[in-house]
Amino acid sequence: MKAIFLVKNGATDQAFEIREADRPVPNAEQVLIEVEAFGLNFADVMARKGLYRDCPPLPAIVGYDVVGRIVEKGKDVQNVDVGQRVSALTRFGGYAEFAVTQASAVAPISESMDIGSALALATQYCTAYYCAEEMSRLHPNDKVLVHAAAGGVGTALVQIAKYRGCEIFGTASTAKMDYLKKQGVHHPIDYRTSDFAQEIKNIIGDTGLDVIFDPIGGKYFKKGFKLLGSGGRIISFGASEMTNAKNIFQKLKFAKDFGIFHPVQFVMTSKSLLGVNMLRIADDRPLVFNRVFNEVIRWYEEGIFQPVTGKIFQFDEIAKAHQYMESRQSIGKIVVKCPHTRRNLARKA
Ligand SMILES: NC(=O)c1ccc[n+]([C@@H]2O[C@H](COP(=O)([O-])OP(=O)(O)OC[C@H]3O[C@@H](n4cnc5c(N)ncnc54)[C@H](OP(=O)(O)O)[C@@H]3O)[C@@H](O)[C@H]2O)c1
Repeated sequence: MKAIFLVKNGATDQAFEIREADRPVPNAEQVLIEVEAFGLNFADVMARKGLYRDCPPLPAIVGYDVVGRIVEKGKDVQNVDVGQRVSALTRFGGYAEFAVTQASAVAPISESMDIGSALALATQYCTAYYCAEEMSRLHPNDKVLVHAAAGGVGTALVQIAKYRGCEIFGTASTAKMDYLKKQGVHHPIDYRTSDFAQEIKNIIGDTGLDVIFDPIGGKYFKKGFKLLGSGGRIISFGASEMTNAKNIFQKLKFAKDFGIFHPVQFVMTSKSLLGVNMLRIADDRPLVFNRVFNEVIRWYEEGIFQPVTGKIFQFDEIAKAHQYMESRQSIGKIVVKCPHTRRNLARKA
């Protein structure tokens, strides 16, 4: 099979090579999927830059979500069958024509579901659902801040907050303000040109926010924590800001910018910090992940979730796809199509 290997950390033009590789073999609890398309996630950019601790040693095939058809399954797999079209979370290995993953991280989908939606549901919507529905209940009129609100996870979080009747504050860069408004963000904030914390204080005064979803970290986290009201919680699920650090000193500064917290502070102020890593949940709590994935598909079928596909790239355009994600211009899900799957070939014919 053809696979895209991450061969070198750093710039996009030298980081990847398309190589022949052995088709992976599923174990008793896994399935083998013939991949129609795989998705990009911000963690891929972190992995490419050598900032992602869980990434396997290079050369490695990265990639967290695929859509395709099951062509083989392990002897203990019961929830899905060979021949079914599925959306799946992979633990790396997604940038290839065939990928294996645990059957608990796979959900059957309709033949008509578009590839962007199928991919966004597996990672970004599962992450958002777990953060918002399992870790932190949202209630009507809650004041909720979503950082990077126009991105993949951000779009999903906004859709959940809207469904729960919250007052939504969303940050993104300048060109995405209209998109945020269309998605239902009540207070779109351009955090590239203004101080988001000051903007929010101007709107809410001293009442404080109920929930913050923070994938950025550093000073965004520290400022966010101060914005929380009593009973407020901050869900920390990423560190995008670290990609800006060019050397060890800037990395240390990024770590310092988070601030130092003592448990007593959480008690006295009645504020909470919650951390989420969906790979840990998928690996260590497969039943929880499977429940979340099935709920995400149900919400999609009920029209609560409406994933947005940003751009679709071809297999040999992986460098361009990464540049696009890193450029901070993207909205919604970025997709890369595999050229040789039977479904894609049939569509061409
Ligand atoms: N913990 C988990 O299990 C988990 C799972 C999935 C994703 N995540 C995290 O969630 C975040 C969103 O992931 P995604 O895949 O949906 O990506 P995404 O939001 O579609 O793309 C990244 C966006 O983040 C914004 N951003 C903010 N600060 C940035 C910075 N310093 N450098 C680059 N971009 C920056 C950019 O948009 P604007 O500048 O316009 O806002 C950019 O378009 C990432 O931090 C990712 O690591 C965590």
